[in-house]
Amino acid sequence: MFVKKVRLTNFRNYQAAVVELAQGVNLLHGSNGQGKTNLVEAINLLASLSSHRVAGYGPLVKQGEQSAMVSLELFHEDRDLLLEYEINLDSPNRARLNKSPVAKPKDILGYLNSVIFAPEDIDIVKRDPTNRRAFIDQLIVQLAPRMLGVYSDYERVLKQRNTLLKSARLTGTKGDALSTLSAWDESLVNLGSEIIAARVNTAEKLSPGLISNYQKIAKTNNEPRMFTKSSILGSLILTGEESDDTEYLETGDREEITKLFREKLLRIRQKELERGITLVGPHRDDLVLILGSLPAKGYASHGESWSYALALRLASLEILCQESRFGDPVLILDDVFAELDADRRVKLAELVRNNEQVIITAAVIEDVPESLIAKRFSVVAGEITND
Ligand SMILES: Nc1ncnc2c1ncn2[C@@H]1O[C@H](COP(=O)(O)OP(=O)(O)OP(=O)(O)O)[C@@H](O)[C@H]1O
Ligand SMILES: [Mg+2]
Repeated sequence: MFVKKVRLTNFRNYQAAVVELAQGVNLLHGSNGQGKTNLVEAINLLASLSSHRVAGYGPLVKQGEQSAMVSLELFHEDRDLLLEYEINLDSPNRARLNKSPVAKPKDILGYLNSVIFAPEDIDIVKRDPTNRRAFIDQLIVQLAPRMLGVYSDYERVLKQRNTLLKSARLTGTKGDALSTLSAWDESLVNLGSEIIAARVNTAEKLSPGLISNYQKIAKTNNEPRMFTKSSILGSLILTGEESDDTEYLETGDREEITKLFREKLLRIRQKELERGITLVGPHRDDLVLILGSLPAKGYASHGESWSYALALRLASLEILCQESRFGDPVLILDDVFAELDADRRVKLAELVRNNEQVIITAAVIEDVPESLIAKRFSVVAGEITND
């Protein structure tokens, strides 16, 4: 499958733009701040309905406007498919599939898959758990679009439960508040367990590809491994940032996870009431990345961290290639060659050039290996032209 046409209206710095992309390699070039990343962000957005750069939708709408539209024409085995997504600041977002409105935006997921490599990927290795959770969650949503509903339901339950805990803390805990809390516990555990199980199982699927791709890129026998550190384990409370315990969640079995989650919640009930916040659940978990015998975060060199991040993306690409119903995912390389040394550039080019569609952005064309220079576009101040 590949993206044949992109149409943007009031998206980021684009007022109205149309671009026809080719199967195979496409190169978007232009100086800094012209709209290269904005364009690939729009494409990637329609694969998981989340941006790889920001958490909310607000920044995606052109400044001064109320709504934005991203429309993508896809082509797969002689057939066209049109996905349209309208982002509204003051009302719910809406989507259309082949011009017909769908009940929920998530109904347009599952047709387009994409994997994006971006300079921010280094954060997956080097920074806080939020980055690693976002990485795996975006992959999960592509593999199983219905999970998007599970994530938003979980967020909603978490918010409600936190409000309740906070008011229980302020007013003192009485019978009524506690019984309402138990009702929220059930939803939190059910939805949360589904998310935790999906993360453990997806991390397991990623593992072989992570190891093989890391070794291809980094030319070393140092082995990358991934583990789930979960707040549902043990007696301790994860701060959401650092903690040195090394107890990892081994099971991806939903029932076992549900049981652990429920027990932990009861054990820390008193602490939750004292603190007025939900202390257990997938929102407090982390994916621990190990290289050799040390955590990658805080120990791996800059080059090793980059190889790690690339290997995670390449492993995601392999899984999506195997599981996608519509052929290869669209592969996006946003400004990554500038970050890599000559050796890694050539290796990455080798690994990706046969993908059905590759979209590359670069401010300096010379950074892009020659084997990847194909159809070119230039991007200047929100206008895209064919070279
Ligand atoms: N909501 C918005 N409304 C208007 N302009 C925006 C909005 N969001 C981002 N921009 C502008 O879009 C411009 C282009 O951003 P983009 O990240 O696409 O640049 P780029 O071409 O990828 O540059 P670089 O080579 O530095 O990565 C920026 O100058 C930014 O200020
Ligand atoms: Mg950019």
